[in-house]
Amino acid sequence: MDKLRVLITREQIAAKVAQIGERITADFAGESLVLIGVLKGATVFLADLARQIKLDTTFDFIAVSSYANARQHSGEVRLLKDVDRSVEGRNIILVEDILDTGLTLTYLMNVLQAHRPRSLKVAALLDKISRRTEPIHGDYVGFAIPDEFVVGYGLDFAERYRNLPDICVLESDSETR
Ligand code: IMP
Repeated sequence: MDKLRVLITREQIAAKVAQIGERITADFAGESLVLIGVLKGATVFLADLARQIKLDTTFDFIAVSSYANARQHSGEVRLLKDVDRSVEGRNIILVEDILDTGLTLTYLMNVLQAHRPRSLKVAALLDKISRRTEPIHGDYVGFAIPDEFVVGYGLDFAERYRNLPDICVLESDSETR
């Protein structure tokens, strides 16, 4: 049986997402934006964040394979889906659920830079800074968290728990699952 322990409540998330939305609205005042969500984990964050941004904003989505069903990063990132529409000359914010080793973000930054945007920033709800192996950072980061496996608010374990409203630590006796 999986045990879930609440790490960040829905109220804390909502307050933080509103703050990030305000910052983005101020930083891009008078300009338009494309939010690019990384499927599937960032969808819940993107949906909430987008409604806190008071600017001309559109969405797109990109998909990569990374974790699959394991807790450890394989070190390999593959592009499963690129953006649907050209983002050349546009202000892009890449929306990520969590920054961990940084391998996924490094890969995605290269993919998106190749589309020649006007600007490229990163919004990530969570950041496990202690796990970082790549020299990347988020421009808009919600919460720094310890090195624990979390689920909820879009984050999954083997596709489950994405619908939890709070961010929870998944605790179990087995490390292998
Ligand atoms: P990175 O490439 O190691 O930075 O991994 C980033 C991706 O790994 C995220 O977009 C998540 O999909 C996944 N990930 C990393 N840590 C967790 C976690 O604690 N729970 C669920 N997914 C995670």
